[in-house]
Amino acid sequence: MEGKASAEPSAPATDEAKGEAPASANEAATAEPPADARVASKLSDEELARCDAVIKQTFPDGARKPAEQVPKEALDCCMARARHEDALYDDRLERAKQGETGSGLAEWEARSACCGALSWRGSMTCTPWGPPPPPCVGDERPTRASPPRVDLRDVARETAASRGLAFAALDVDARELAIATWRGRMVNEHESAAVFEALAGQLRRAGFERGITAQLAGFAVEEREHGIACGAVVEALGAEADAPPVGQPALPEHPDASPREAALRNLLSVCCLSETVAVALIGAERLEMPAGPLRELLTRLWADEIGHANLGWRALRDALAVSDDPGLRARLGVYLRVAFAALERHELALLPARAEVPPGGAALGLCDGRGARALFAATVVEVIVPALERLGLPAREAWARRAAPPPC
Ligand SMILES: [Fe+2]
Ligand SMILES: [Fe+2]
Repeated sequence: MEGKASAEPSAPATDEAKGEAPASANEAATAEPPADARVASKLSDEELARCDAVIKQTFPDGARKPAEQVPKEALDCCMARARHEDALYDDRLERAKQGETGSGLAEWEARSACCGALSWRGSMTCTPWGPPPPPCVGDERPTRASPPRVDLRDVARETAASRGLAFAALDVDARELAIATWRGRMVNEHESAAVFEALAGQLRRAGFERGITAQLAGFAVEEREHGIACGAVVEALGAEADAPPVGQPALPEHPDASPREAALRNLLSVCCLSETVAVALIGAERLEMPAGPLRELLTRLWADEIGHANLGWRALRDALAVSDDPGLRARLGVYLRVAFAALERHELALLPARAEVPPGGAALGLCDGRGARALFAATVVEVIVPALERLGLPAREAWARRAAPPPC
């Protein structure tokens, strides 16, 4: 597995990017959540029951919905419930500092749906892998997929056994956060298979060479395997590899651009942005993790993600090299503003703003959120932007002028 990672042509992001980002990168990224971030506040039992009923009625299958389709009462309940979870988390951290464990961190099934509706930039867990569909621009509104529940229990159980994954005597809070983390990754990875399938089809229709489209189709297979691998960790932690889907929008077609340019926009967003960030985050996590079956699993995923990022960078370089369109780079730079904003929003929503990691958390894949956010910023500013600039794209300006993508 180590061999595969190092045998790939070098990706722009590497594990060397781990650690504290320079101050300039932090400043450039504005990676902290806004000042209106939640204030922890507990609900009474009665309020909790009322809000849970409203949330259940709004998200009956736990899948996300666009914020504009969520009634205000449900949005208010999501926010109240999130503040309640934060208050419990703070209580538990305080008790843990005093040597008390065993309180556990409740699994909040509607967390993903509520956080999506609130566009909330914060999380207790570290679940940003699995590239989401790129953002759309203009009037396009891709249809929202209604995928089935992600139930990988049987195959994940088998995988946990065959990989020798087992965890003993875990801190209870660390265990519950680890379950939520790996379950979130399971869903993101599993659903990103559809992104690569759609991307392969789009590039095929746009006339890209078969070698590229075949690799993209292969990435879809790998992402499903990653979902199973993450589910195997959930099962090994004593929980079930079963969760509601995120329910992402379809891959945008970008009808305002030529088929080839539309495909390049999506390739940029998926491979050059999201997957490059994934390489950095997974590489950093892997360095913190002691040797063992979980690190081997992570190394396998990391090697694949390097391949996913690398294909995008190579295909983008080759497509730009043969293009005789003098305005292509500038137009891609305009799309980059939206793509960067969507990337930042996605990553920060799925990385915790907290720095605390429960005892034993690093060995389970839990992250120091501030460190991960700083690494995200450094990867964009020091790796992605310079690499795009070398290809002639105005990436520095696009990052500086990143603009919130429209809801789609
Ligand atoms: Fe993956
Ligand atoms: Fe990937």
